[in-house]
Amino acid sequence: MFIETCIAPVNIALIKYWGKRDEELILPINDSLSMTLSTDEMCAKTTTAAAASFNRHIMWLNGEEVSLEENARAMCCLNELQRLAIAKGQLKFPIEWKLHIASHNNFPTAAGLASSAAGYACLVYTLAHLYGVEDEELTAIARQGSGSACRSLHGGFVRWHMGKLKNGRDSIALPIAPEHHWPEMHVLILVVNDGRKKTSSTKGMQRSVQTSDLIAYRAKQCVPERTVALVDAIESRDFQKLAEITMRDSNQFHAIALDTYPPCVYMNDVSHAIVEFVHAYNAAVGETKLAYTFDGGPNACIYLLEKDVSAALAAIQLSFPNDAAQSVEYVKGIPVERERKENNGFNGNATFPINEQNLLKYIIHTRIGKGPQRVDKAESLLDLTHGLPIEN
Ligand code: PMV
Repeated sequence: MFIETCIAPVNIALIKYWGKRDEELILPINDSLSMTLSTDEMCAKTTTAAAASFNRHIMWLNGEEVSLEENARAMCCLNELQRLAIAKGQLKFPIEWKLHIASHNNFPTAAGLASSAAGYACLVYTLAHLYGVEDEELTAIARQGSGSACRSLHGGFVRWHMGKLKNGRDSIALPIAPEHHWPEMHVLILVVNDGRKKTSSTKGMQRSVQTSDLIAYRAKQCVPERTVALVDAIESRDFQKLAEITMRDSNQFHAIALDTYPPCVYMNDVSHAIVEFVHAYNAAVGETKLAYTFDGGPNACIYLLEKDVSAALAAIQLSFPNDAAQSVEYVKGIPVERERKENNGFNGNATFPINEQNLLKYIIHTRIGKGPQRVDKAESLLDLTHGLPIEN
C-alpha cells in the first residue's frame, strides 16, 4: 500500500474573488489576494492510500463516508493529477489502483470558515505526493476543486492571477511574500451566532455575474488598482494601508452581493456591529490598528499586529460581553496575555458601543502561516495495514 498524509491551511482573502468567467474550469473575473493562516490553529488533514486490494474509491469526510465518484470537482482534481502522473512517466504503482481518502478539518465546518479551500488544497497536495507529481500546475488543479483553494497551496501572502487563457493554464496562485516577511501579522476570527441558510458561493457569484450592474466595474477598475496598492503595502509592511484596502474591498464585495438580484445577504446585524466597533476603535486610538473582512457569511476576520492583540481583545470583550468570556474555550488558539483594563486603548472609558450579551460564539486567535506540509505516517487518518479510517 502507498500512503501519504498532509495538512493544508485556511486562507482569508484581503481582495475577494467573486465571479467566474468560466464555470466549468473555475476561472475568475478578477485577481484576488489572500493571507494564509497558521496550521497550528486551523487546518485540513488528508490521508490518501492506493493499494491493489482496494476494489473501489472510498472517501471519508470528517469520519462520514461520502461518494468520491459523485463529487465532480474532486474527481476532476483526481483526473488532472493522474494525467500529470502519466505524463511524467514515473508511476510508483498502476494508475488504475483505487484510492482510499480520509479528510478531516480541525475546526468546525459549521463555523463557515473557508473549509473548502483548505480541504481541496489538502486533497490536491496529498494526491500529488501520492502520485509523485509535485508541480507548478498544482494551484491550477486545486482551483478546479474550489476557486479559493488554489491560494491555500502557498504560505504568507498569495495572489491568484485570473489569467487570460481559455484553458485556464495561467489562472494560478503565486506567492507575494512568505510568512516570515511579516510574522507579526495576527488574526482574530470572531465567530458569530447565526442559523440562517445562506446562498453558496457558487450560486451567489453566478447570480452576481448575471444580475449585478456593479460587478463588472469592480473587476475592471477597482480590483486592479487595489491589487497594485496592496502588493505595495505588503512589500513595505504598511499595516494602515493594508487595513484600509482590506476593509474597503470587503465592503465592496458585500455591496455587490446586495446589488445581486435577488440579493445575497451574508453579513448580519452582529457583523455590522463589528464593523462599527472596528471603526470606533481605530478612531479612538487615532490609528488604523484593526482591519475587518467578511466572506460569504457573518463571521469577521480581523487582521491586526501582534503587539495590538491584547488591547484589541480587551476592547472586543468590553464591546461584545459574553458569559463565557473568561473560559479557555471562548478564546481559542494562541494564548493572549490579559491586558489590564486601563491599558485597552480607551483608558477604561469606552467610547464605542456596548452590545448585548453573547452575540459571539467564540474567538480564534491565529497568525500568518506557511503552506501545506507532509506529516509523519504516525499522524495518518487511515491505518497502515488495511487503509481504513482510524477511530479517534
Ligand atoms: O472558493 P469559493 O467558491 O469557496 O469562493 C470563495 C469566495 C469568498 O470567500 C467570498 C472570497 C474569497 O476570495 O475567498
